[in-house]
Amino acid sequence: MTERSPIDGTGFGRSVQSAVYRAGASGSRPLVPTRWDDLVAAAERAMTPDAWAYIAGSSGRESTADANHAAFERRRLVPRMLRDVSERDLSVELFGHRYPAPVIAAPVGVLELVHRDADLGIARAAASLGLPAVLSSQASVPMERVAAEGGGGPLWFQLYWSRDDELVASLVSRAERIGAQAIVVTLDTTMLGWRPRDLDRAYLPFIHGMGIAQYTSDPVFRRLVAERMALPRDPAAPKPKVTPAAVATLLGMTRRHPGRFGANLRSGEPRVAVETFLDVFSRTDLTWDRLAFLREHTTLPIVLKGVQHPDDARRAVDAGVDGIVVSNHAGRQVDGGLGTLDALPGVVGAVGGAFPVLLDSGVRGGADVIKALALGAAAVLTGRPWVYGLGIAGQDGAAEVLRNLVAELDLVLALTGHRTPGDLSPDDLTE
Ligand code: FNR
Repeated sequence: MTERSPIDGTGFGRSVQSAVYRAGASGSRPLVPTRWDDLVAAAERAMTPDAWAYIAGSSGRESTADANHAAFERRRLVPRMLRDVSERDLSVELFGHRYPAPVIAAPVGVLELVHRDADLGIARAAASLGLPAVLSSQASVPMERVAAEGGGGPLWFQLYWSRDDELVASLVSRAERIGAQAIVVTLDTTMLGWRPRDLDRAYLPFIHGMGIAQYTSDPVFRRLVAERMALPRDPAAPKPKVTPAAVATLLGMTRRHPGRFGANLRSGEPRVAVETFLDVFSRTDLTWDRLAFLREHTTLPIVLKGVQHPDDARRAVDAGVDGIVVSNHAGRQVDGGLGTLDALPGVVGAVGGAFPVLLDSGVRGGADVIKALALGAAAVLTGRPWVYGLGIAGQDGAAEVLRNLVAELDLVLALTGHRTPGDLSPDDLTE
């Protein structure tokens, strides 16, 4: 993979920087802002209010999202001088594959809200740099299509553990068939967090039939839908009110559903598919021993996303999984939680090198990546930053955000006196 990537050890940061300045001499500006606040503002302008609420919102008073940033801010880098940093190598090995930089596109659902390129856009953007993209269970494009048309880069698959184990097995076997290199099991979403921005708009994209493409393309899910369609109608079931909004919702979900519009409208299958999805989406009764089921159904590396407590990290080691992501889902699940960078050292200590520990939630620039690596993360995942780029300028916007993050991390690595991610240690940080 590294061979195909433009990221190399001879100064990716400088070459990106100089390309931007040279293009400026001919009157071109970057496609997406490099300054964080400007990126956020441009993304908000590019999205509908419903989309922006869903993408930018976190749970409760959004204090966990704030804590993520505060944890990065509190720790400061202490640069070292007079070290030869002319030859650098950003590449990292994870789960038997070498990737050109320790940056991975996090799984983000319902990308059709943001841009029509959706999952194809981020897959192609990440592929252009040779970085892995994690396909979400809540994707807008079935994984087979992303594998075929997504640029041929490394793909991982993120699993929401459904209430139906047969569906879980089917999703995982499809991921194997498309050549996914890891299964990322998200543990923190046994139900949706309390998200005021969405609640106040009374807006959940799944109810509109968005973000359920992995399900409607799945043979097990389709069988569940067919079984539900065959059930006799419950005469006591409440009838939805016929309002202009209800009609628009029905037409929207019918248009998004696979198959012919007219036939779907007559059969009512799209609505049944949405109801089936809402029923099977996730389960609250999962326990550590259930991981054995997944192990039986895949030979791919299993990576647990959402671990924050050292004791859970130890349980993950005992369970025989292959890695964990310290994540709080960008603060979208539990309000009042700790920042992931604050959770990282305890988790890294508990794992004791048994497997790679990754981190996400709140990474906004190259320095944040360096801080996470210094505290023992093997790589970071990033979500909202490239989603904003996708919203502003589609695939190219997402690619530019990822490119900028890697360029900046290369510069910060060198300017703090290091040549590889492995050179970093807690010694490079205050606190
Ligand atoms: C997410 N995230 C997420 N995680 C996951 O496992 N499956 C998913 O479908 C989604 N969907 C999703 C949608 C949106 C709009 C956001 C913002 C996030 C969480 C994601 O994978 C990752 O943990 C965070 O986004 C990382 O934090 P930053 O980089 O966004 O701060």
